[in-house]
Amino acid sequence: MVSFLKDQNIYNGEIDEYVSRRYRVLARLSKGGTSEIYKAIDTFNNSKVAIKILLSEYAGIDKDEKNLEISPREIEKAYEFINQEARFLETCHHPNIIHLRDYNLESKLPYIVLDFLENITLEKEILYKGRTFSIKETLDILEQICDALGYVHDKGYVYCDLKPNNIISVRSNLTLIDFGLVRPINKPIIGGTIGYMAPEALQSYNNPVLATPALDVYSLGILLYELLTEFQPLTQHRNTSETASTTPKLASDLNPYLPKIFDNILLRCIENNPEDRYHSMDLLIQDFTKAAKSFI
Ligand SMILES: Nc1ncnc2c1ncn2[C@@H]1O[C@H](COP(=O)(O)OP(=O)(O)OP(=O)(O)O)[C@@H](O)[C@H]1O
Ligand SMILES: [Mg+2]
Repeated sequence: MVSFLKDQNIYNGEIDEYVSRRYRVLARLSKGGTSEIYKAIDTFNNSKVAIKILLSEYAGIDKDEKNLEISPREIEKAYEFINQEARFLETCHHPNIIHLRDYNLESKLPYIVLDFLENITLEKEILYKGRTFSIKETLDILEQICDALGYVHDKGYVYCDLKPNNIISVRSNLTLIDFGLVRPINKPIIGGTIGYMAPEALQSYNNPVLATPALDVYSLGILLYELLTEFQPLTQHRNTSETASTTPKLASDLNPYLPKIFDNILLRCIENNPEDRYHSMDLLIQDFTKAAKSFI
């Protein structure tokens, strides 16, 4: 009984005064670095929505002592993320990209309203599965993600934060969420996730690094490697802090059922030199499909 109560996600009206009365907030789903996600009902049509809203400490609402540590630059960035996500998603119409329904960037806590997906993230699916994905399953995932990323690139943008945690899976249909780091091609990137960031992106802590589609190709290579082997190529142990090695182990050495032809495809995605990676999502999917044909 005690643990049952502990697991309940009780909502105490924390964001009600910042969100239109149109939405009836039900529960908090997750808390990220600069924003939180809530589940809500859109009372106009009685449908479920997800509301992504800036954390109150960035708006100076929560006067906790620890919040004095947030620098003006961090505050500026947090607003930039949510603004960017709204502005970009507003222009998107794609079956594998989360649908933006509404937003209010003028609210004291800016927020965006998204279709609610009864979800599990691809990250959780990888963990629950406890086995590698088959070539057929991987191809199904790759086709959907390449399609979404190709669409973003064709619009002149780079997604910049591809990772299993930013992909929601509903009965094998995948949806890319979390567009806070999306950047126009050739503009400086503003972040990424360690473990999925290309080596050139890691330099951005010292110098500005310009966004190119090659950054997304690299992250996708890491994701593919993870699906096919259960490991990340440069650590070989997912979710550990073990020191990264610089030469990736061949995926076929980790998964004896994986034909060697896939090693070259994976290695080409995660080449250190961006020029040596696939130059487009189309070329990657072509190669992968050709290789997969003999095995599915
Ligand atoms: N539209 C949605 N429907 C259902 N759940 C969602 C939706 N959008 C986000 N979530 C849930 O909230 C989590 C965080 O969402 P998102 O990645 O957009 O926020 P974030 O603040 O960037 O978080 P993080 O810092 O953890 O990446 C997702 O992993 C997912 O579990
Ligand atoms: Mg995220």
